Amino acid sequence: MAERAEKVSTLVLFGATGDLAARMLIPSLYALDSDGLLPADLRIIGTARTELNDDGFRKHARAALVEHLPQGFFDFDQADRFIERLHYVPLDITKPTDFEKLTKLVDDDHSGVAIYLSTAPSLFKAAIDGLEHAGLTSSKVLMALEKPLGTDLASSREINGAIALAYPEERTFRIDHYLGKETVQNLLALRFANSLFEPLWNSTHIDHVQITVAETVGLEQRGDYYDNTGALRDMVQNHMLQLLALVAMEPPADFDATEIRDEKVKVLRSLRPVTGASAKRDCVTGQYAAKGGEGSYTNDLGRPSATETYVALKAHIDNWRWANVPFYLRTGKRLAERETEIFIQFKNVPHSMFANRGAKTLPNKLLISIQPDENIRLLVMAKTPGLDRDGLRLREVPLDVGLANAFADHRRRIAYERLLLDLIEGNPTLFVRRDEVEAQWTWIDGICAAWAAADLKPVPYPAGSWGPAEADELIERDGRVWHDDA
Ligand code: BG6
Repeated sequence: MAERAEKVSTLVLFGATGDLAARMLIPSLYALDSDGLLPADLRIIGTARTELNDDGFRKHARAALVEHLPQGFFDFDQADRFIERLHYVPLDITKPTDFEKLTKLVDDDHSGVAIYLSTAPSLFKAAIDGLEHAGLTSSKVLMALEKPLGTDLASSREINGAIALAYPEERTFRIDHYLGKETVQNLLALRFANSLFEPLWNSTHIDHVQITVAETVGLEQRGDYYDNTGALRDMVQNHMLQLLALVAMEPPADFDATEIRDEKVKVLRSLRPVTGASAKRDCVTGQYAAKGGEGSYTNDLGRPSATETYVALKAHIDNWRWANVPFYLRTGKRLAERETEIFIQFKNVPHSMFANRGAKTLPNKLLISIQPDENIRLLVMAKTPGLDRDGLRLREVPLDVGLANAFADHRRRIAYERLLLDLIEGNPTLFVRRDEVEAQWTWIDGICAAWAAADLKPVPYPAGSWGPAEADELIERDGRVWHDDA
């Protein structure tokens, strides 16, 4: 494992007046502070273009806490203590000389500095140049980067290349906030802290896997970003491929950044490329259309667009463990429910002794709900009570673990709390390594090229529905159904 950095005493937050900082970063830092988890001497230096001074930024941060902390969590005294840590430097990323203002604020040897870039990726390169100008590219500095890291493999390589010239890989923290979610980490516990599942976790026993990230929100305030990105790059390239890698990877020997990321990258590199020929068969894209009171995507955007707000696809992992086990992925905006889940369908029993009694067995299923509920549910067959004079009946019943109940005395934390604390402590396990990001983009670029070659266009689906009917056909052709239809 890489040598740990010293504890961070200065956190420089680029994009400090932005939406992510207000909704997630500032509330997460406050929550960590309330629990006494931040280093006593930690200073948080916000920077953005907006002309503010320390007081102005503190006011802004306090308003963000009031608005975004969960009900009952805001405490006046605690907020007063927390905002004392906050400072502000107005800075134009495109002007290297502006970065000199930061030099004065950090220790000379940089050993306790972490920089968090929560800005548009088009500004990453300029930010690195500015940091270099200010002498802040020392190998001791920790560099955290928000997604998206580029828009394709080439641009991601360019960004990663510029970062690599300035910061060593073990000091580079690429954020995928899904890795900070408790239930996502729980996937590791479910798979590798139980002996029950691992012997069955392969193509001999698993029929297929479904990963769903359904959102009810639409474009929100991010029209230009989203329209240039689309569902494939916004959600599949990062969050969904990380979920897939955690489900599919081989058991790492240790809970260690190198071991875990080595296993994930092997999965990502084993994804079968989608080609022009398979694109139309294995992929469906959609765009939400008006329904009832809900506007269409193009209404929300204010102009015509061919960007997909929904994607469903069938992926294959070409290795020994997963041969012939399809992974069906789907994600979309303005769907019927907010729901992130992993659904694993096992194979049916090889022979049913109940067939001669007219009873049907259904395959076992494991449902891992990530949000909004955090549940693990195993569906097993049971006999329906009775004397069975009219034949024996079997029914599917759930074995449920509601994690919120099982751990009722534990506070549910924002994913960013975990990630920010790991950053401050210099632990990169839950951050994405360069080779992972590049393997993700390699697969996604192949899909984009295949879509273009096949002239695949998004089909409309009604806002508030479960997506286009074509996505149902995609899975039904294989004799399977999406979990919510089962
Ligand atoms: C972000 C995407 O990375 O993840 C958004 O850019 C999406 O479009 C969001 O809404 C979903 O995150 P969560 O944590 O709400 O599932």
